[in-house]
Amino acid sequence: MCGIIGVTGGSEVVDILLDGLARLEYRGYDSAGVAMQVDGKLWRARAATGTRSLDDLRKVVESAPAAPIGGIGHTRWATHGHPTERNAHPHLDCTGGVAVVHNGIVENCRELTAALERSGHVMTSDTDTEVIAHLVEEELAGGAGLAAAVRSALGRLRGSFALGVVSAAEPGTIVAARRVSPLVVAIADGPGGEALLASDIPAILGRTRTFWTLDDDQVVVLQPGALSVTDLHGAPVEPAVLHVDWDLEAAEKGGHDDFMSKEMGEQPRAVQDTLRGRALPDGTLSLDELRIDAAALRQVDKVFIVACGSSFHAGLVAKYAIERWLRLPAEIDIASEFRYRDPVLDRRTLVVGVSQSGETVDTLQAMRHAAAEGARVLVISNVVDSSMARDADGVLYTRAGPEIGVAATKTHLAQIAALEILALYLSQVHGSLPAAEIAAVLQSLQAVPGLVAETLQRDDQVAAVAARFTEVRDFFFLGRHVGSPVAMEGALKLKEIAYVRAEAYPAGELKHGPIALIEPGTVVVAVATRNRLWEKMLSNVAEVRSRGATVVLVANDGDEDTAAMADHVLWVPPVPELLSPLVDVVPLQQFAYHLARAHGFDVDRPRNLAKTVTVE
Ligand code: G6P
Repeated sequence: MCGIIGVTGGSEVVDILLDGLARLEYRGYDSAGVAMQVDGKLWRARAATGTRSLDDLRKVVESAPAAPIGGIGHTRWATHGHPTERNAHPHLDCTGGVAVVHNGIVENCRELTAALERSGHVMTSDTDTEVIAHLVEEELAGGAGLAAAVRSALGRLRGSFALGVVSAAEPGTIVAARRVSPLVVAIADGPGGEALLASDIPAILGRTRTFWTLDDDQVVVLQPGALSVTDLHGAPVEPAVLHVDWDLEAAEKGGHDDFMSKEMGEQPRAVQDTLRGRALPDGTLSLDELRIDAAALRQVDKVFIVACGSSFHAGLVAKYAIERWLRLPAEIDIASEFRYRDPVLDRRTLVVGVSQSGETVDTLQAMRHAAAEGARVLVISNVVDSSMARDADGVLYTRAGPEIGVAATKTHLAQIAALEILALYLSQVHGSLPAAEIAAVLQSLQAVPGLVAETLQRDDQVAAVAARFTEVRDFFFLGRHVGSPVAMEGALKLKEIAYVRAEAYPAGELKHGPIALIEPGTVVVAVATRNRLWEKMLSNVAEVRSRGATVVLVANDGDEDTAAMADHVLWVPPVPELLSPLVDVVPLQQFAYHLARAHGFDVDRPRNLAKTVTVE
């Protein structure tokens, strides 16, 4: 997710822009830029040198023409197009008189680009954002003022956005708007009276503690000392006021105690953004970005998934989906094992590497090995232009935004969503699943972000259950079918952040050994939502209960038959079987989180672990 800053008025425009961008640094970024209003023109500077971008930008801005009266700035975390200077924001229109910074995704970017190019516009970047500058340009050419031009342009956009727009024709004015992506505006305290704009409160927290938060499809006009908010039709609206008494560190965490809880809270967005523009409203899928064409994908006769950690668990879920929908063999292996066991691969094998970072050396080397053996290689990565993304034949990005907590949460959900989209797309290309069934699954997928949000709201209930187990040092996690990878992820979370032993087993395997360990007081956490093996799952639960285990069950709302088998229940809304991991894993993340917090552990930086592991 990108960061946005804007200011008009006062004498500290450059400082406010650059300091604001620096305060957004914690979110991660790969490039940065500003556009400032100087002498009736726009002056733009950008840098794309990774984490050095802000320093490099500062050097360029020091040579800026004197006394800008306002400007907008941006830190970019690439989602469309490589992290290069050409793709860094702000983006300009053809005349150089309109500049736009944007956070979010323009879903109908391809069709808008085609229409704009037909009417003579020339695109100079690979981003979806640039179309907004050209749309505003068209409206301005038709005689509209900047605010009206932005409102009209927004009417043509599908997707999510928080954006700031400046025009050379209206010095001292910034027009900003939001749909889905957050945006706040404020008037600075003190003599400057600057009007301020930001995607995140920390960017401008030093200037005031009172903010206006915008709702979806609201447009705000910022002028020195003045803010006015309207709806998309230009009718005035009263924005919500927010007084913040957090310090900067708390503000970076969005008012949460830590990044992990913030990032768990971002899971609905992460899933929604990952589906955006790919799962289309007409019930089909569009993955033009894949770089592997449909003809090549049609040749595929086996899929092989390689990954580590939470990414491996997302891959396990995908194995079920690929086999069910695509009806092709899907193998999965831990990346560090894959390449040393001489897997059988050829040109018709599609090897899918799953990696949040795109840098994990085990997965990277496994993918290189697969490519050397002649397989087609595709990566699911959260980081644009990561080593894996550059190496692979094809890439499908998750759009979870930067994840700071070491234990993967929102990227894990985004990976499952991306893999399911990929499985459905392959099914569409192969014709293995009727179009109506694909449409039905997509409809269910679209409902998932809302269901994840609903599940997250039950955090207090999970915390109350976790509070019962603070002294327990050993847990068993059980699941069947897609509940099995959910159990594995739940156990991994507990190990990673709460430092307790947690063994995960497919529940059917219990009788082949692990059941010998069950004795009165052993805690068993089981995923007992209503998948096709629910009855068998309950039989396994009965086996551990009869040996005295204390049982915690993840169960579907209202399922009293399941609750009757449990000492404690973690309730989740029902979701179609193959999509259920997206929801069922959430209370297990929360469970681990609360146990870790109860022990006073640092959930964001667990001991001995690294976010990205670049050694074998
Ligand atoms: C590390 C992280 C895990 C992550 C794994 C794979 O172990 O601590 O959270 O799941 O690496 O990382 P990747 O970036 O490849 O998904």
